Amino acid sequence: MLKKRIQPNRLHQPTSKAGIFYNSKRSISSLSRSVPFFWLSILGLIFLFVHIFASAKIDIAADDNLSTSSINSLHSENEFNKTISVEKLGSNMHPNELTNIPLKSRVYPIYKHPFPCILVNDDKHSHSYSSLETGITFIKIHKCGSTTVADIVSSWRNVFRNKQNITSPTMHCKAYFHHMMAYKLHGLAHRQKEKSFLFTFIREPTERFKSDFYYHGISKAKRYDNASFGNFQHFAQSQLEKRTRYGGYMMHFMTMDNSTLPSFQDKFAFWNPEQPNYVQNSNVLLRHVESLIQEYDFIGIMSRMDESLVVLSMILDIPMKHVLYLNRRQSGSFDYDFLRNQCFFVEKPKASHELEQYLKSDEWYSKNAGDFLLYRAAHESLDRTIDSLGRSRFEEKLKLFKELKAQMGLICDVNCSRCTDKGEVRDKSVKQNPKCSLQACAEVTKRVAKRKKNT
Ligand SMILES: *[C@@H]1O[C@H](CO)[C@@H](O)[C@H](O)[C@H]1NC(C)=O
Ligand SMILES: *[C@@H]1O[C@H](CO)[C@@H](O)[C@H](O)[C@H]1NC(C)=O
Ligand SMILES: *[C@@H]1O[C@H](CO)[C@@H](O)[C@H](O)[C@H]1NC(C)=O
Ligand SMILES: *[C@@H]1O[C@H](CO)[C@@H](O)[C@H](O)[C@H]1NC(C)=O
Ligand SMILES: *[C@@H]1O[C@H](CO)[C@@H](O)[C@H](O)[C@H]1NC(C)=O
Ligand SMILES: *[C@@H]1O[C@H](CO)[C@@H](O)[C@H](O)[C@H]1NC(C)=O
Repeated sequence: MLKKRIQPNRLHQPTSKAGIFYNSKRSISSLSRSVPFFWLSILGLIFLFVHIFASAKIDIAADDNLSTSSINSLHSENEFNKTISVEKLGSNMHPNELTNIPLKSRVYPIYKHPFPCILVNDDKHSHSYSSLETGITFIKIHKCGSTTVADIVSSWRNVFRNKQNITSPTMHCKAYFHHMMAYKLHGLAHRQKEKSFLFTFIREPTERFKSDFYYHGISKAKRYDNASFGNFQHFAQSQLEKRTRYGGYMMHFMTMDNSTLPSFQDKFAFWNPEQPNYVQNSNVLLRHVESLIQEYDFIGIMSRMDESLVVLSMILDIPMKHVLYLNRRQSGSFDYDFLRNQCFFVEKPKASHELEQYLKSDEWYSKNAGDFLLYRAAHESLDRTIDSLGRSRFEEKLKLFKELKAQMGLICDVNCSRCTDKGEVRDKSVKQNPKCSLQACAEVTKRVAKRKKNT
């Protein structure tokens, strides 16, 4: 499917910037000043290369110093050889091509093993499990509805231990749910799949970025006054600088094994400012996206929160009440800043026209190509999983889920926020209100529903 792509860079890219030539030019530039004849030999070499590669019709134009070893490690040797002969290493693609390219989506399999409640005796909300080879791991990505999901995962810690007759209050099921890159989590890359469950939630990449910019850039840190193009560019630059080699912001969080990626020197591996409207090494990127889709047990989608959670309960085979959530109303539009112990107003400024245009551009797509591809593959995978579980059975469950959620909202959605409508900080004790605990609240809701039925 990747064979017949256009190679736009070949049409207008000067030879001096092409792949290996570019690299050798950079790496010998200091030498060449002191040893002029060096240039001659290099020119000779370049000549030879042009000749060899032109006749072999191998496209190396877009190989932006993606070292052979880093690509090689992506695949088994066999696969790699096949890849290089069939697809040509380091091909450039225009966003129009990528948005149409078929992706390998997936039906998330039903988790056939017992619920992976690995009992541990640990602090509440532990950041420090020695290894995540076992247990629940939720990769929390900023501005993807992850606090809502983390609340749910947190409640699993106690729910499932009851099945194992645990009375000690410090024992709980191992569940990790923090804003942390998967590759930094020890043991995750070689987890035991029959004793662990790895999942995350993602969001439409542009929406996620805007929300991040408004929330962190403008409202919380107050680094920016307004949603101008310049301010957004500055913010996005700081966020993406170290992440483009992972394929995007969300991909950075989800990547398990960073050794399969281009090295730090290859920060322009997938997006190069010299060709801002193209995606570099798109075949490597596509395969990285597909490997993530395969690696995770489930990937939820924020804009399809209810559907995602119902599917999650179905593939984990747990009762639906364990995936209910509270619509945590922000009081007014204030949110709590733990570090500064203060409330801040969450601004939702209007993006400037220039910014809206930019967010539709090829450059913006190219910079975040991995995230866009991942998002599309995750959508398809969710749809296919629902089909596989049975549409009508799923719809039924979804309806019930929404009813339960609405009921829980009526009973439990009280003043649980640390901030009042006026932006004053409430005491920590608001959290001790049983109606603010998801688990307690789900129980209350169940009892009320039963009582209503009986009367
Ligand atoms: C290319 O990458 C390798 C390691 O990945 C590095 O040692 C070398 O200096 C880089 N060359 C250039 C021209 O950036
Ligand atoms: C793949 O390439 C490597 C070196 O590039 C070579 O040693 C190996 O034999 C090749 N494998 C196959 C199956 O062609
Ligand atoms: C839990 O305790 C109950 C009653 O004491 C017992 O019947 C059941 O077998 C126990 N379950 C496990 C998993 O030990
Ligand atoms: C937006 O903010 C920048 C600096 O943060 C400022 O220079 C610029 O004048 C502001 N633009 C508008 C329209 O307020
Ligand atoms: C991979 O991640 C580890 C742990 O954070 C880090 O020490 C290492 O430098 C990273 N390697 C690359 C190639 O990014
Ligand atoms: C929430 O708090 C306000 C005052 O801060 C109070 O008037 C209101 O009754 C509370 N609502 C609930 C449901 O407890």
